[in-house]
Amino acid sequence: MSYDVVVIGTGPGGYVCAIKAAQLGLKTAVVEKLPTHGGTCVNVGCIPSKALLHATEMFAEAEHSLPELGVEVGKPKLNLKKMMEHRVKTVEQNTKGLDFLMKKNKIDIFRGSGSVAGKGKVSVKSEDGKVETVETKNIVIATGSAVAGIPGVEVKFDEKVVVSSTGALELSKVPEHLVVVGGGVIGLELGSVWARLGAKVTVVEYLDSILGGMDGEIAKQFQRMLAKQGFDFKLGAKVTDVSKAGKGAKVTFESAKGGNAETLEADVVLVATGRKPYTEGLGLEEVGIALDERGRVKTDSHFRTNVEGIYAIGDVIAGPMLAHKAEEEGVAVAEMLAGQAGHVNYDVIPGVVYTSPEVASVGKTEEELKKAGIEYSVGKFPFSANGRARAMLKTDGFVKILADKKTDRVLGVHILGFGAGEMIHEAAVLMEFGGSSEDLARTCHAHPTMSEAVKEAALATFSKPIHM
Ligand code: FAD
Ligand code: NAI
Repeated sequence: MSYDVVVIGTGPGGYVCAIKAAQLGLKTAVVEKLPTHGGTCVNVGCIPSKALLHATEMFAEAEHSLPELGVEVGKPKLNLKKMMEHRVKTVEQNTKGLDFLMKKNKIDIFRGSGSVAGKGKVSVKSEDGKVETVETKNIVIATGSAVAGIPGVEVKFDEKVVVSSTGALELSKVPEHLVVVGGGVIGLELGSVWARLGAKVTVVEYLDSILGGMDGEIAKQFQRMLAKQGFDFKLGAKVTDVSKAGKGAKVTFESAKGGNAETLEADVVLVATGRKPYTEGLGLEEVGIALDERGRVKTDSHFRTNVEGIYAIGDVIAGPMLAHKAEEEGVAVAEMLAGQAGHVNYDVIPGVVYTSPEVASVGKTEEELKKAGIEYSVGKFPFSANGRARAMLKTDGFVKILADKKTDRVLGVHILGFGAGEMIHEAAVLMEFGGSSEDLARTCHAHPTMSEAVKEAALATFSKPIHM
């Protein structure tokens, strides 16, 4: 049996690529080394973290917001075991869904570790050591990423005291003091989970701001909100050592500019300092597939590696390490292999941090526009002036829109607020169509909705908002 395409790895990049390829009539197989499909995202990433973020948000609401709404339920009691069951069940529902989709689309599944055995050949080594070779016209590498650790620091993860995101999803009790190394997305999302359940959370971050790369004004306000929730921040602080000490651990850091070392004691340390492309055991060197300076599989704008018939997508190649980016690339490659014109617009990839409030953005930040020398207009609108937000006690945050000064074309939208991760998509659609802030402002928005703040921010960009 020979395939049109064999995809190695069934994370969001790989499984979506396989489904799309099968839908387009290509004979498709996948190789996956884990017992379940869905990769990092479904098994230990997006999905379980959101299950815990939702559950803990409800826990915090029960304590802090419900009494203000006249709903008195008493002090909420944590049933961590039940909360973890919710996480596990959510993951299971998703992996079962993927099994169903694989079957429905008649995708053949090879269980085991895949490697590229040459042009048109994928070798699969199953757990019992058996090796089989699968023949195919095209190979798509979608092997994702793994925990990077701290550059230059040896970290021994035991996933109980010194944990990566995977261990932080499964703690058996709430730590008294959780030290998070890295104030990026994982650190703030999983830090929020445990802070809401009562942990004291200290974030040690190398940069001078959290969420590096995010619009600076948004990041600053967001940090203030997290501080109000009890987060402690050590910014401009470089972690130089993480080691176990007694029942807990010690984190040593110094000023990023140099200076005396300080130490923090913790019950649990979450190391969330980024992820690295996962190419181990793929046989890339043997086949001569080129990597870039950061160890990512090098591809051209058509996701082709330097070896004919071999493509790569998702976390293992350049670009933001996001599930939806990997999915878009999976679809694009499948379409190209089926003779269609696949394309990914990297200018319009939304990013969401699922904290409370959420942070969502699409397109350029103010800092990026300044750096590129592009003249822009800014429009902002706070949720404190939005009726629905007041009704729901969700008045924290604001919408910020950046548009080209001359043409009014929207170049970036940043939202800090409840439901930001849902609202951002009207901006994404607008930007896909090259729309202006006036287009957005003249689009009728239902009342009362949080989204009216987006419309008002758009009005503020080219004219004046009504409600402020
Ligand atoms: P992966 O999902 O990593 O999948 C790769 C697959 O390949 C895995 O199943 C692996 O077992 C398999 N594999 C690897 N090597 C081989 C081999 N040799 N043979 C066979 N199989 C192999 N992104 C978001 O967009 N939103 C979020 O909310 C979000 N939350 C996250 C939370 C956490 C805690 C983490 C860690 C990540 C999160 N991400 C989120 C990032 C997201 O998980 C990744 O961007 C996404 O999973 C990348 O998809 P991928 O298909 O490229 O790779
Ligand atoms: P990240 O790149 O977002 O953040 C890592 C942080 O660690 C950076 O701010 C960096 O400056 C800091 N750091 C590095 N070395 C340090 C040191 N020695 N001392 C102190 N700080 C140090 O990486 P993170 O949070 O691990 O996430 C990995 C990937 O997973 C991200 O690329 C993200 O896209 C993805 N992800 C996405 C989510 C989402 O979309 N909601 C949720 C979780 C993860």
